[in-house]
Amino acid sequence: PAIAAIVPAAGVGKRMQADRPKQYLVLHGKTILEHSVARLQSVAGVEQIWLALAADDPYFDATALSHSNVIRVKGGDERMHSVLSALNFVDEHQYPWVLVHDAARPLVRQTDIELLIQRCLARGEGGILACRVRDTMKRGELMVAETVSREHLWHALTPQFFPTALLKAALHDAISAGVHITDEASAMEWAGHSVLLVEGHSDNIKITQPADLALAAFYLEQSS
Ligand code: CTP
Ligand code: MG
Repeated sequence: PAIAAIVPAAGVGKRMQADRPKQYLVLHGKTILEHSVARLQSVAGVEQIWLALAADDPYFDATALSHSNVIRVKGGDERMHSVLSALNFVDEHQYPWVLVHDAARPLVRQTDIELLIQRCLARGEGGILACRVRDTMKRGELMVAETVSREHLWHALTPQFFPTALLKAALHDAISAGVHITDEASAMEWAGHSVLLVEGHSDNIKITQPADLALAAFYLEQSS
């Protein structure tokens, strides 16, 4: 099937403490946003990419991202609003499946995106890239209440891949119901859909804090 992709890129990058939103910081000559978009464009079947940008975004470089399959839309106050605002432009008949990928994850491997798509299409169910938790996990505040078995714990990564119509309905309903949603999968889970876990790689980091930039540069060098 034809696949659409949505890239939420309307955040301000508060924790990054940079002079601009982190998706516009440069790694190896390209902005983080350009890296993320290029990884999606490298995947066969991904035909159209919607970028959710902040309303007043002076950093977006239309020349660098001038490919005809990239469309800009206005994002929202929170990530989930940015995703839904882009999703509303995606015609579910033309694009029955949609990938959602954080602008701030420039290192996702093409092969992992392809694995996610292939697994989900084979099962006819949506899913997410995820990686297993490695540290021993504790629940508690000041004191440990308990040690949580990490056997069944995963970090949720992106992309996340879902049938377009189901994701639209789930996100819309979750937001209307006031449910706090931090990723697409949580909206789908809330709506009662099953979500497949597809094991990706832990180098698919979300650039969040200043030190992540050096780590991302290191991973990029290693892979090139
Ligand atoms: N995002 C978005 N719209 C928002 C908030 C976030 O499209 N209103 C996007 C970000 O641009 C990013 C992704 O969602 O690509 C993941 O969010 P996060 O890592 O939290 O980015 P920021 O919100 O920009 O960073 P911070 O939370 O540190 O301010
Ligand atoms: Mg944020």
